[in-house]
Amino acid sequence: MSEALLVVEGLVRHYDRGSVKALDGVSFQASAGEVVAVTGPSGCGKSTLLSLIGLLDRPSAGRVRVGGLDLASVRRPSAFRAEQIGFVFQFHHLVSTMTLAENVAAPAVALGVPRRRRMAEAWAMLDRMGLSARADFLPAKVSGGERQRAAVARALSNRPPIILADEPTGNLDSRNGELVADLLVRHARSQRALVLVATHNPEIAGLADRHIVLRDGVLVSS
Ligand SMILES: Nc1ncnc2c1ncn2[C@@H]1O[C@H](COP(=O)(O)OP(=O)(O)OP(=O)(O)O)[C@@H](O)[C@H]1O
Ligand SMILES: [Mg+2]
Repeated sequence: MSEALLVVEGLVRHYDRGSVKALDGVSFQASAGEVVAVTGPSGCGKSTLLSLIGLLDRPSAGRVRVGGLDLASVRRPSAFRAEQIGFVFQFHHLVSTMTLAENVAAPAVALGVPRRRRMAEAWAMLDRMGLSARADFLPAKVSGGERQRAAVARALSNRPPIILADEPTGNLDSRNGELVADLLVRHARSQRALVLVATHNPEIAGLADRHIVLRDGVLVSS
């Protein structure tokens, strides 16, 4: 049998010389097309786990493999992220001086996609999110829910095999929360992407195929 898309083995991230054990030996695997909810109380290590998988941070011990590639061997995390990872955060992190369409097209710059093509794809993506009328607006000129949907569009725009979403609906009302969750699930199904979503929201967790539950940096069920 071929290896799972994501393999996490004995992952440890300690801070402050080991006095804070944000992750303390987490192992699990996840496959393409799955939606996996990462849950557990505040401070249990959810964001730390996503940061290590997305190479925003490096582990104290243990390893992560994505498509057979050991992330410890990656020398250019930004290139790895551009090809493999889409991030969605609780706060949208859109660039305030760029329109929604320019924001959505931004990840394609790193892949060298010509401007005309990346803008056309960004518009198509925003259209699928119900945002075609807002594509030329700056983030400050649209609603919070629209901003977050644009941030999801940006995360999905390179069609990365892995989407890491950290409290993507934390700031949204329930209608926009459902929209964002639905977009992520549909993306997993249609693109055979792995979506890992850290959330306190029971409705989103309910949409997931599987749950990974952390407590004090330890996986208590998966
Ligand atoms: N840079 C840091 N330095 C020291 N400790 C940190 C650092 N980042 C996180 N921690 C600690 O690591 C633990 C895990 O934090 P993490 O942010 O992963 O939790 P979380 O599950 O995402 O919580 P929340 O649900 O509140 O977002 C916490 O105890 C946190 O205080
Ligand atoms: Mg967190």
